[in-house]
Amino acid sequence: MSAAAQPMPAGIGAVPLSERVHWVGALDPGLRTFDIILKTANGTTYNAYTVRGSAGVAVIDTVKDGFAADFFRRLETVCDYGEIKAVVLNHLEPDHSGALPELLRRAPQARLYVSFQAQLVLKGLIKRDGLEYTAVTTGDSVSLGDRSLQFLHTPFLHWPDTQCSYLPEEGTLFSGDLFGCHYCDARLFNDRVGDFRFSFEYYYAHIMRPFKAHVLKALRLIEPLPLSVIAPAHGPILRDQPERYAQRYRELSTPRLQNEMGADERSLLIFYISSYGNTARMAEAVYEGAQEVAGVRVSLHDLEACDTASMVDLIEEADGLALGSPTINGDAVKPVWDLLSSLAVIDLKGKTGAAFGSYGWSGEAVRLIEERLRGLKLQVPVAGLRLKLIPTDGELEQCRAYGRQLARALAGPQVAGVGTLAQASA
Ligand code: FEO
Repeated sequence: MSAAAQPMPAGIGAVPLSERVHWVGALDPGLRTFDIILKTANGTTYNAYTVRGSAGVAVIDTVKDGFAADFFRRLETVCDYGEIKAVVLNHLEPDHSGALPELLRRAPQARLYVSFQAQLVLKGLIKRDGLEYTAVTTGDSVSLGDRSLQFLHTPFLHWPDTQCSYLPEEGTLFSGDLFGCHYCDARLFNDRVGDFRFSFEYYYAHIMRPFKAHVLKALRLIEPLPLSVIAPAHGPILRDQPERYAQRYRELSTPRLQNEMGADERSLLIFYISSYGNTARMAEAVYEGAQEVAGVRVSLHDLEACDTASMVDLIEEADGLALGSPTINGDAVKPVWDLLSSLAVIDLKGKTGAAFGSYGWSGEAVRLIEERLRGLKLQVPVAGLRLKLIPTDGELEQCRAYGRQLARALAGPQVAGVGTLAQASA
């Protein structure tokens, strides 16, 4: 049996991070899929913590419904319910809020602290009349006497409601999903568990990557803090060199092209796939036209031979994306949809999209791709270009004009304005 699959030793209670801080979470080594789409070969943990101050105890996060018995059993080894002064939910997703209603029932005097954004879903998740809570943000704190918790507004990591809580007296950051990973190992601490780096990276790629700008904002709050421990809501507790994990998030969230592209330069990626070479000819002509526009770096890729993950990386840092597809059986072809369906892990807002393609009979591909691009929140400022079967020399010139128009749309008003295709072709 692998270390990651080891069950928690029978009878184990809470695990101390320090004299005043305890892990009271739950292990779920058997989980194999999280949130429908994430593979969790090593299971996961639902980390919850307690902080004991001279004036009371705070509980930070709870566990998924179904693991509440483990949570309460461990919680009861470190405090009485009557001592609980504060319950902090850094994130309301059910894997952390599952035991909250029962905790509030057992500790009715405790005050619930959530982010302002959490209010939008709190009552939908916690079906309880008269639920009282305090909404908090950066600058707010709760005192436990000789310990305190300071709140950090870190939205979208992973839902809009997410926040972090910082224990300044010990330099412990309770980070919610941030810096977490799905990796279950009963040894709990990063200096004791197995090699979980792949899981840390995978988790970032699927949970945090669409929100890189928010990660960087969060890091601006976190990095100045003295950090002795990062205590995330999933996976190992990062007590050995916690700053390395913050640094890794900074590396992963920083655009890689920023040192290669000029400040005013824009990038346009043209992808195509072609069954008889007609859409390929269109793509080459679009590429030629786009290249004529100063300030736009253009690249052309044949989807038939592209590695999707690498292309997603390129698209993430590009300003524009043009897709060329023939129409087969009334649809764009599968590699195009495979690429588009892989883009959910990146932030596409504000990018420019476009579609073109050769067709024989009905020609739906361009319209369907444009609809999908708009659905993904790309702007589609230039109407798509469809040509019937083999493009003529005049039609290839139309493709070059289309490429120029796309590139101008990216380059902005400092280059020639964006007109209609008819104007551009004239
Ligand atoms: Fe671990 Fe977004 O919940």
